[in-house]
Amino acid sequence: MCGIVGYVGHRPALDVVISGLRRLEYRGYDSAGVALAIDGELWTEKRAGKLANLEAAVAEAAPPPPPATTGIGHTRWATHGGPTDRNAHPHVSSDGAVAIIHNGIIENFAELREELAREGIELLSETDTEVAAHLVALELPRCAGDLAEAMRRVCRRLNGAFTLVAVDASRPDVVVGARRNSPLVVGVGEGESFLASDVAAFIEFTRDAIELGQDQVVEVRREGVEVTDFDGNPAEVTPFTVDWDASAAEKGGYDLFMLKEIAEQPKAVADTLRGRIERDGTLRLDDMRITPAELREIDKIVVVACGTAYHAGMVAKYAIEHWTRIPVECELASEFRYRDPIIHPRTLVIAISQSGETMDTLMALRYAREQGARVLAICNTVGSTIPRESDAVLYTYAGPEIAVASTKAFLTQIVAAYLVGLYLAQVRGNKFGDEVRQILDELEEMPAKVDLVLDTVEGVRKIARELADSPSVLFIGRHVGYPVALEGALKLKELAYMHAEGFAAGELKHGPIALIEEGMPVVVIVPSPRGRSVLHDKIVSNVQEVRARGARTIVVAEEGDESVVPYADHIVRVPPCPTLMQPLVSTVPLQVFACEMATAKGHDVDQPRNLAKSVTVE
Ligand code: AGP
Repeated sequence: MCGIVGYVGHRPALDVVISGLRRLEYRGYDSAGVALAIDGELWTEKRAGKLANLEAAVAEAAPPPPPATTGIGHTRWATHGGPTDRNAHPHVSSDGAVAIIHNGIIENFAELREELAREGIELLSETDTEVAAHLVALELPRCAGDLAEAMRRVCRRLNGAFTLVAVDASRPDVVVGARRNSPLVVGVGEGESFLASDVAAFIEFTRDAIELGQDQVVEVRREGVEVTDFDGNPAEVTPFTVDWDASAAEKGGYDLFMLKEIAEQPKAVADTLRGRIERDGTLRLDDMRITPAELREIDKIVVVACGTAYHAGMVAKYAIEHWTRIPVECELASEFRYRDPIIHPRTLVIAISQSGETMDTLMALRYAREQGARVLAICNTVGSTIPRESDAVLYTYAGPEIAVASTKAFLTQIVAAYLVGLYLAQVRGNKFGDEVRQILDELEEMPAKVDLVLDTVEGVRKIARELADSPSVLFIGRHVGYPVALEGALKLKELAYMHAEGFAAGELKHGPIALIEEGMPVVVIVPSPRGRSVLHDKIVSNVQEVRARGARTIVVAEEGDESVVPYADHIVRVPPCPTLMQPLVSTVPLQVFACEMATAKGHDVDQPRNLAKSVTVE
């Protein structure tokens, strides 16, 4: 939540900062602001609303922005104080010396605010951030104007989660950042340095980056970077190279990032499988730093995740239990540590997160590690906090996901979790090599099958436009179709802002069927008629039950499954595949459905209201 950019170098800082904010706007779009440092002065501009409002204000500013080569910028997802101009970042200290931007929550801000009031400093905003600007400015003269030292002194006094980035009018050759429990990465260019919430902000200028650790302060200049802990001791950092380029974070000819990301799913699935399957069918998971001996000792798996990633975990539960016979629990990360879960050293916790920064998931994994569990992260973002704090990581290679609604992350999270399940089955001897090979073959066929679905979604768009005025849509499924139903409903809620709910189809008769009224759209995920045909037959009965009560059914069923045709008002076909693979194809039409409905309603699909891509507060 909140996007942060800092720059010091040889280019016009305003242009670099605004282009960085454009790439980070998906992290929050309640307001945006910039501060430039030049010749002992700060120039700031900030506006409520989307970045476009700030850009318009900058274009009309009097005096116009100075030709500074040092600056900071922020896009906000509001926590303390409404989304107003006044609460927008940067916040400037009362002496005009320091401008600061912040992501996170300073929990002891009320007490710090009182302390500042006693010093006669009146706060102009309702934010927790503003206290940090005044505190850093008060510290500066006490540490000979050393901005990094002033930041360290202030950070030692702050509770909560924060990334802070500051500039000082009198030292326009330096930008200082600090992080605790919120993301901040460094970009290292030729004669220029960057700070940002994620690498997308500076990818057009450099792919050389540095991960910062917990409780570190970084001072960036044109010529280099210095990192210490909050006490000023030199800190070890991890450099890395970003393996995608700026074009991956552009719309690439699509009207929406979401449409582009839906279309990228075959490649994302193929990339997540690539290089991990040996010719003889053995799995090689390079970043699996938990030894086979340790994995053989595991007697319980707990998946922790939020939102879409949680639904991927629910799908994975069916597969991993089936393949390994290890009990798997799937937990909402935000609930996990508050219910005294039974975790011990033989528990494997799998933390699934696209961003690698979701605070609820991070706190769950920290709790699990404190209890002695081993933690494996499934993550899409190299250099992010969740993989760094885990014992092992399996990266999904989906490339940057910019649209707030997750699409390719979901499919690749399922694939990665399946690889973990098969790897466990392999090292524990639950499955023979040729059985694992057969499932891997099925997985390797999925990119082509997802491609086939993409070729046939025009019909889904038409249905979505027809149903756009419906007050409510229900989704039902069984087995792995149940989490798919939940995911379909989540997409519709977040994009079309309408009531949507997913149910296990068998649960309908225990209450929710009372919701059905004449014309209500019900999306039904029908499992393959082959193999587990009991499952199929049961859901065919469920379609009849809702239709008998007036529902308008949209049935997602395998090519060639004619048994559902009499009960379908609309039918959406997906290619035949084994039950456990079906989520990889049946989710795609639901993504398209939500995207099209939101478009029909005139909503901003890539940046839905009240949301942000990376949720870095609890
Ligand atoms: C769904 O479309 C959302 N983007 C959201 O539910 C998301 O999956 C959740 O916030 C978890 O994010 P993460 O994967 O980055 O941890």
